[in-house]
Amino acid sequence: MGSAGPRRHCRPGRGCRARRDRPRHALPGTGPRGAGTRGPAGREHSAGGKVQESFVRARKLDGIPACSAAPVTELPRYADAERDEISGGEPDPAGVAGTGLTWRSKEKHFGIRTRGRLVAHAGFVVVPVSVGGTRLQVAGLGGVLVAPDQRGRGLAQLVVTTAMEHAREVGLQLGLLFCRPDRLPLYQRMGWSPLEGDVRVEQPTGTVTMPLRSMWTPLHDGARWPSGPVHVLSLPM
Ligand SMILES: CC(C)(COP(=O)(O)OP(=O)(O)OC[C@H]1O[C@@H](n2cnc3c(N)ncnc32)[C@H](O)[C@@H]1OP(=O)(O)O)[C@@H](O)C(=O)NCCC(=O)NCCS
Repeated sequence: MGSAGPRRHCRPGRGCRARRDRPRHALPGTGPRGAGTRGPAGREHSAGGKVQESFVRARKLDGIPACSAAPVTELPRYADAERDEISGGEPDPAGVAGTGLTWRSKEKHFGIRTRGRLVAHAGFVVVPVSVGGTRLQVAGLGGVLVAPDQRGRGLAQLVVTTAMEHAREVGLQLGLLFCRPDRLPLYQRMGWSPLEGDVRVEQPTGTVTMPLRSMWTPLHDGARWPSGPVHVLSLPM
């Protein structure tokens, strides 16, 4: 696991790494494959393998670029109090309570504070899966949440890409998430791809078919989701 220190995207006195005017192909999740390949966390990997700086959009809210106020830090805990701090107490901010599913907690949590208030979170947990009969461990992303008054600034992308960067650093090859169908475009913009076919997950009552959409992302160059039926061998995250 990498440093738990803040990931800042502005350099004091040297300007902001984020570029509103940066060409779209240089944004996380939108890079062309060729001279360089897009790695996890929206980083651009040069053909020589050197990791270049991550470019993050700097959308302004109240005149403040997201990056100037948005260091991503690893959180020591993420429980109901932290979730409520972000959501304002909304009981089901992700809109998945209707599935009736039991979810597992995430192990690693990443968040953004602005003016002392927690405004964004993403977490992951190492999840055992069977794909086509082959067992592997993947980074299960979950708990992606941005405060209602902070949405549309790229904060979800920041916390998701940071979480997956840490998953990559601990050697995981693939990320997996579950989401409502209307969230597919959000994650596709970050480089995630839908998994077709049913995914089975464990519940206290036994194995069930996941009613939400499943998506995956490579955490290393060349990593690919294997073919075959997918069975998450634990509660979903
Ligand atoms: C979904 C959510 C996390 C997005 O947070 P956000 O900070 O506004 O997202 P970002 O600004 O990082 O958006 C990243 C990209 O996804 C797009 N996007 C954001 N929300 C979207 C949505 N609901 N549907 C489709 N695309 C969306 C953005 O337009 C942006 O694309 P762009 O780069 O082309 O502009 C936030 O709306 C939220 O907390 N919702 C409630 C909880 C939830 O649904 N979590 C997801 C559970 S799977």
